[in-house]
Amino acid sequence: MLHVLFLFSLILTSTHVLAQDFCVANLKGVQTPSGYSCKMESKVTIKDFVFTGLGVEGNTTNIIKAAVTPAFVGQFPGLNGLGISAARLDLAPGGVVPMHTHPAATELLYVEHGHITAGFISSSANTVFLQTLKKGDIMVFPQGLFHFQINFGKRPSLAIVNFNSPNPGLQILDFALFANDLPSDLVEKTTFLDDAQVKKLKGVLGGSG
Ligand SMILES: *[C@@H]1O[C@H](CO)[C@@H](O)[C@H](O)[C@H]1NC(C)=O
Repeated sequence: MLHVLFLFSLILTSTHVLAQDFCVANLKGVQTPSGYSCKMESKVTIKDFVFTGLGVEGNTTNIIKAAVTPAFVGQFPGLNGLGISAARLDLAPGGVVPMHTHPAATELLYVEHGHITAGFISSSANTVFLQTLKKGDIMVFPQGLFHFQINFGKRPSLAIVNFNSPNPGLQILDFALFANDLPSDLVEKTTFLDDAQVKKLKGVLGGSG
């Protein structure tokens, strides 16, 4: 009898856990590590579950000749709590997404057209995993690892990327080192780069000190 009661209460508890179909982000609320609070279902519409914009080419007239159009929870509130998001990546010839990491997500990249040379580096042994991808190829970049994408081709390339987080996060290695006010002598000490190189990159990326 006790066993039956215990099983019954377990079933009740797990039913409660599964009770919510979705939790569309209330973007005016605070964001916590587990996402945004939920919009009232009476206020939720189909617009919360549709993102329009990945069909539009990003503007690659910039220093990296690349553009990322995000469909993360901030742009696409229906993703909140669902552990998934997407983005569009446009790379002009010579374009590059510099060495970066997404602290919260694994990335899956699908090449829609053009060629993309992509790679990541393991944290355990600093092994390089590198491949030039063509139309129809997909590549996975494991969560948290440094990676990059480059278009060495003569034509623009387009990729659609998916993340297993509604908010994958982004840290660009060069920005962390050269786009802030960490004193140059400390950057030099911690990277073993020389003063001229550090000052040059700070100049290009907007760093000071
Ligand atoms: C693309 O960005 C550049 C640089 O910011 C700007 O001059 C140009 O007008 C933009 N092009 C379009 C089509 O928006």
